[in-house]
Amino acid sequence: MNLKESLEIKKQFVDNELDKIIPDETSYPGILFKSMRYSVFAGGKRLRPVMALAACEIFDEDISKAMPFACALEMIHTYSLIHDDLPALDDDNFRRGRLTNHKAFGENIAILAGDGLLSYAFEVMANAVAKNPSAANAKALQAVAFAAGVNGMVAGQALDVVSEGKPLTKQQLDFININKTAAMIVGSVKAGAYAAGAEEKDVDILEKAAIKLGLAFQIQDDILDVVGTFEDLGKAIHSDEKNEKTTYVTLFGLERCKEIVETLSNEAIELFSHFGEKAEFFVELTKYLVDRKS
Ligand code: FPP
Ligand code: MG
Repeated sequence: MNLKESLEIKKQFVDNELDKIIPDETSYPGILFKSMRYSVFAGGKRLRPVMALAACEIFDEDISKAMPFACALEMIHTYSLIHDDLPALDDDNFRRGRLTNHKAFGENIAILAGDGLLSYAFEVMANAVAKNPSAANAKALQAVAFAAGVNGMVAGQALDVVSEGKPLTKQQLDFININKTAAMIVGSVKAGAYAAGAEEKDVDILEKAAIKLGLAFQIQDDILDVVGTFEDLGKAIHSDEKNEKTTYVTLFGLERCKEIVETLSNEAIELFSHFGEKAEFFVELTKYLVDRKS
């Protein structure tokens, strides 16, 4: 099976499950669920949950073991996008090819839709642990919580927002990128691997690969913000310039950034290759992400 087919099958699997577990607007109060579902089902790439399932598959062919964590990762990622787009943060009008949540539902409901997705993600993971209280499931939950919170995404986002309009060193920018973006990619592969019962030594290798992949992914995101199109990205371009953000592109220029992305992804591929044929998905995915347009 090629990467595209494998990606599509896993994405479908995740989408079906998300559709099953997130209540629709017939639940009360309907506006909350309508707003949550508006952003979740807006056409995201589902990279994080797909990576969780693929990491699980390296160690156990039953990828449903990783499904609650995969769904939680996508719900947390979607909450972070909703909040990131708010006027108090990046103040963006379009995301995933449609109006941002607060433009469609108002700021109050957008904040609550984000809160709802974040807390529901933890409920879904806790339900999985309650059903099967294994160390594997507990570690998977721990990996997602670590990635999403004050040791990861929230910390990166905090430095990001207070740094607007200020010059940053490479070290400060790396802190932002590693925490804001790479942490959730790391959390995804770790959660999937743990859910399958992987050993620490294998999870460590996956973690090292995912940091490289996560950094390459963010730098490519910065590149696309400069050279991409609204149609491909489904969101405004030149958002970093508007918000006076230091990025790899402002520090090193486009050409050097492309080289850095290439180097990081080759290093990630080398690490993934440790798992041989079983990690072929990640090798192909890494190549695809470097060349992506959205
Ligand atoms: C695009 O993901 C998103 C990123 C590159 C990460 C940006 C990080 C944040 C917005 C963190 C915000 C954090 C808080 C706490 C508000 P993608 O290209 O996978 O998007 P898709 O899911 O729409 O395809
Ligand atoms: Mg943003």
